[in-house]
Amino acid sequence: MRHLMSPLDFTTEELDKLFQLANDIENNPKKYAHCCDGKKLATCFYEPSTRTRLSFEAAMINLGGSVIGFSSAASSSASKGESVSDTIRMISCYADICAMRHPKEGAPMVAATKSSIPVVNAGDGGHQHPTQTLTDLLTIRSLKGRLNNFTIGLCGDLKFGRTVHSLISALIRYENISFVFISPEELRIPEYITEQLKELNIPYEEVIRLEEVMPKLDLLYMTRVQQERFFNEEDYIRLKDFYILDKAKMSLAKDDMLVLHPLPRVNEISVEVDDDPRAAYFRQVQYGVYARMALILTLLEIEV
Ligand code: CP
Repeated sequence: MRHLMSPLDFTTEELDKLFQLANDIENNPKKYAHCCDGKKLATCFYEPSTRTRLSFEAAMINLGGSVIGFSSAASSSASKGESVSDTIRMISCYADICAMRHPKEGAPMVAATKSSIPVVNAGDGGHQHPTQTLTDLLTIRSLKGRLNNFTIGLCGDLKFGRTVHSLISALIRYENISFVFISPEELRIPEYITEQLKELNIPYEEVIRLEEVMPKLDLLYMTRVQQERFFNEEDYIRLKDFYILDKAKMSLAKDDMLVLHPLPRVNEISVEVDDDPRAAYFRQVQYGVYARMALILTLLEIEV
């Protein structure tokens, strides 16, 4: 039995297979409509979510299965003091696979050690968000045709943004990737990541101004400032609108640069950018469903 805690739980060959499956699902949805008949997905979300929870649910329903779960700690027995370890033992009796989001780093990993069904980390604190990374990689691979040879800018809250941490850890396994980290001083990428890039001789630079690096980017990954991880409201208010991607900044970019964003967006991408053909963030959401369908089939070892 396999769980998914980090994108590195799959080799690049396994990821390639998963992405081929996701693209086949995209092109032949009817072929997969009954693959999970009789199977149940539990979504155990101790922290708010729109995309991850609903795309997991849509993925299981598209495969013919059904869904149970809770969408907040307050509506579960966690509010009475039940531990994650005890909860997953119950869930293992009710469902065939579980997607868990938790504000504490490592909570889905604790659940996995006590679970008799596959557990997927659907985001743990500021740590990892592996299914967002599967979504991001599938989007890049599908729209750019490759997962190597590009310069990617990551912009915004690089300190707390778990999608950024997961994506970097996945991308460093592909050839000829350069990173440009664009953030205010207070939200810089954690040192453990830059240390790893140095050790692996992977090129990166850190800048504050988005405009100065726009022309060199093949991909721009925007992120929101993570209000829920700030200790101090004043700091959040000062930093929340530090970056706003608008038409003027897009005019500096390559014609085939793609803008990605894990969403939700707050103010960091102006709505005037939404109609730009390079804005890929809503297409990214659709790829999230295909990626999660492929993941469910893979973890449940269902061959089609
Ligand atoms: N991208 C993402 O994780 O969105 P949600 O928080 O809405 O699930």
